[in-house]
Amino acid sequence: MQVMTGAARKAGRRLARDFNEVEHLQVSKKGPADFVTNADQKAEQIVFEELSKARPGYGFLMEERGVVEGTDKSHRWIVDPLDGTLNFMHAQPHFAVSIALEREGELVAGVVYNPATDELYHAEKGRGCYVNDRRLRVSERRKFSEAVIATGMPFFGKKGHATFLKELHQIMPHCAGIRRYGAASLDLAGVAAGRFDGFWERGLGAWDVAAGIVLVREAGGQAGSIEQTGDVLETGNICAGNETMMDELRTRLAKAAG
Ligand code: IPD
Ligand code: CA
Ligand code: CA
Repeated sequence: MQVMTGAARKAGRRLARDFNEVEHLQVSKKGPADFVTNADQKAEQIVFEELSKARPGYGFLMEERGVVEGTDKSHRWIVDPLDGTLNFMHAQPHFAVSIALEREGELVAGVVYNPATDELYHAEKGRGCYVNDRRLRVSERRKFSEAVIATGMPFFGKKGHATFLKELHQIMPHCAGIRRYGAASLDLAGVAAGRFDGFWERGLGAWDVAAGIVLVREAGGQAGSIEQTGDVLETGNICAGNETMMDELRTRLAKAAG
């Protein structure tokens, strides 16, 4: 855990410094796109170096550099160095470094760090979920009509716009409100913290959700594949919440699929 939180904080500090620069670049003609790509890669390099130094031999799955085989075949880090890139690029302080550890194919630890708020979410299998030093629990809410549900909408160039609208039609009229904040790792952290009663999104990468899944499960909630079949890290179609919210979401999303 210390290794993971150390790496997340170090990369996060770097992102926070670059974020200040991005705020200035907003007004430039070219915009901050190249600068952000660079910041993303630098953050990934930091995470890679820190984790490799502490645990030589572990493999990696990283959003930017992809798969890095390790000599230790039973451990793998799953990393998104900058989740919420579009927010970062548009000077919105809602982004995170996400790091998970898989042991023998099972997710055993997760860290999600939001440098803008200095909130460090961390969880280890069997040991509970925390934000900084505070223990977290998922929400107890049972009525869907009172639930605040987070989601992610497909953006430019992504598939699934029509499907999303059908799903929204099944969920939106029945819950208290929908939120789209733009960083899946923080959406899951929000479920773990009881700030959201549920979350669903399709087409995510393993690096978007791996750490957040550990957070939610250790906060007493559930996180899994929308269709209940297949490994959620592979399908990328996820929903999360307490048991009741999971049932509600799955039932309504199944209806949307017709
Ligand atoms: C994105 C964010 C966003 C989600 C996208 C992801 P990125 O990750 O998690 O909330 O809706 O599907 O790709 O690109 O900012 O690392
Ligand atoms: Ca991401
Ligand atoms: Ca990313």
